[in-house]
Amino acid sequence: MAKRTKIKALYTSGKINETYTVMGWVRTFRNNQFIALNDGSCLKTLQVVVDFENTDDALLKRITTGAAISATGTLIESQGRGQTIELSATDIEILGDSDPEKYPLQPKRHSLEFLREIAHLRFRTNTFSAVFRIRHSVAFAIHKFFNDKGFVYVHSPIITGSDAEGAGEMFKVTNFDLDSIPKKEDGTIDYSNDFFGKATNLTVSGQLEAELGALALSEVYTFGPTFRAENSNTSRHLAEFWMIEPEVAFADLVDNMDLAEEMLKYVIQYVMENNEEDLEFLETRLLNEEKQKPQNERSPMALREKLEFCLNNDFERLTYTEAIRILQNSKPNKKGKFQFPIDQWGADLQSEHERFLVEKHFKKPVILIDYPKEIKSFYMRLNEDEKTVAAMDVLFPGIGEIIGGSQREERLDVLERRMEEMDIPSEEMQWFLDTRRFGTCKHAGYGLGFERLILFVTGMTNIRDVIPFPRYPGNAEF
Ligand code: 4AD
Ligand code: MG
Repeated sequence: MAKRTKIKALYTSGKINETYTVMGWVRTFRNNQFIALNDGSCLKTLQVVVDFENTDDALLKRITTGAAISATGTLIESQGRGQTIELSATDIEILGDSDPEKYPLQPKRHSLEFLREIAHLRFRTNTFSAVFRIRHSVAFAIHKFFNDKGFVYVHSPIITGSDAEGAGEMFKVTNFDLDSIPKKEDGTIDYSNDFFGKATNLTVSGQLEAELGALALSEVYTFGPTFRAENSNTSRHLAEFWMIEPEVAFADLVDNMDLAEEMLKYVIQYVMENNEEDLEFLETRLLNEEKQKPQNERSPMALREKLEFCLNNDFERLTYTEAIRILQNSKPNKKGKFQFPIDQWGADLQSEHERFLVEKHFKKPVILIDYPKEIKSFYMRLNEDEKTVAAMDVLFPGIGEIIGGSQREERLDVLERRMEEMDIPSEEMQWFLDTRRFGTCKHAGYGLGFERLILFVTGMTNIRDVIPFPRYPGNAEF
C-alpha cells in the first residue's frame, strides 16, 4: 500500500504536481466527480477529483457519505472556489463501504441532541472533531505547563477507601454477588469478604493522595478521571469527569490563586495559537446558534474575543463576605429574581449568584476566597476569624465555578478538631494525618474541572458535548 499522507500535511506542506495517497471518510460526493474527504487531522476536507469517465460505474456507486476510501493522485492547484488545492485521483480504493440509506449522518446540520444519541459517530462531524482536537490540545498544554514548571505528575488511585470531599457522593466498588450480600449479625454489610476486605468506592478527587506527594516532592499534580454520584441533571455536571489537581508545598492561598490564573491563561493562549482553524469554526457555529436567541441572551463577545479578553485582564479577587454584600444589594436579589435569594451571610452560592458576579457585576473572571467554614470541606485551613476557611473558587463567564481549591489545614490539632466537627471518620484517615504529624508545612492546591474548561474554550454550552461518552443520571451508553 502506498504511504499515506494526512490531509493536514497536504495543506501545510504538500507540493504541487507530486503524487500522494490520502485516506479518510467521504463527507460528500458531488456530480460523480468531487469527493470531500476528511481524515480528522484537520477541520478542512480535501477535494478529491475523480476521473469519472475512466472509472468503473460499480466503484463510483460505492463512493458514498461515510465510506472509508484511499485515493492516490497528483496534488494540483484547485480551479474551483472554496479550496486552494485538490487531488486529481488516478486510483481510488474503497476501504469500507457505508450504506447511504442506513448511515445516520447526513451531509446536513444535525442537532446536538440528536448527535448525543449517536455519540459513537459524532466524532465524524465538524463540530465534534473540532471539540475533541481542542480537548486534546488543552490536555497537552496542561501537562506542558506543569512539566515546564518542574511539577511531578502523580497518579492518584481510582479505587479508594476514602471520601476526599466528605460529601458522600460516591459510587461503590464491589465484587459481591449483589443478590446475596454477606451481612453481619447486626444486619450491616460484612465487607471483610469483599474484594478489598473493606468498603471501597470510585474516587471523587485525588487531592488527599496529591497532598502526600506534595509533602515530599514539593510540587505535584494529578490528571485523571473522578466520579460523583450526585443527581445533578445540569449542563455543568457529569457523573464521570476529569480533574487536574496541583498541590504545592510551602505555598499559601495567594500563591494558589497566582498559579491558577497563570495556568488558565497559559492554556487559553496555547489553544489560541495552536487550534485557530477549529476555534474559528466553533466561533461561527456559536454565532449562528445564537442568532436564534433573543438579543439579551446572546453572548456579548464572540468566542475568540472572549478568550482574548480573559488573557488580557487580571481576574477579580475578593472575599466571600464582599461578594455577599454585592449580591444582597444587587438588582435581581432586591427584585426577587434569584431562585435562591441571598438573605444572610453564610448562604451557599448557587450558579445564578456566581454568574451574576462574573457576567453582570465584574464582567470578567472572579476568584472568591475565605468562605464560611460550614459550606466548605474539612481540609481547608481555618482562618484567624475562626469563621471562614482559606478556600478559593475561580468563577468563569458562562460556566460559574471552574476551579475549587484552598490552602490546606496543616495544623494537626486544628485538623483533628475540624474532622470531628464535620463527622469525618479519623480512624480511616491516619495515613493522611501522618503528613501533619511528620514534617507538616503550609501547602495549597486546587482542582480544575477539565470539561468545564473545555466548555469555556470551545464555546459549547452543554458539558455532555465536550467529553466523548458522557455519563450522567440515566445514561451510561457506549
Ligand atoms: O470543588 P471541587 O469539588 O473540589 C475538589 O474536589 C477538591 N478536592 C479540589 C482540590 O482542591 N484539589 O471540584 C473541583 C472542580 C470544580 O470546580 C468543577 O470545575 C469540577 O471540579 N467539578 C465537576 N465537573 C463536572 N461535573 C461535576 N459533577 C463536577 N463536580 C466538580
Ligand atoms: Mg467546589
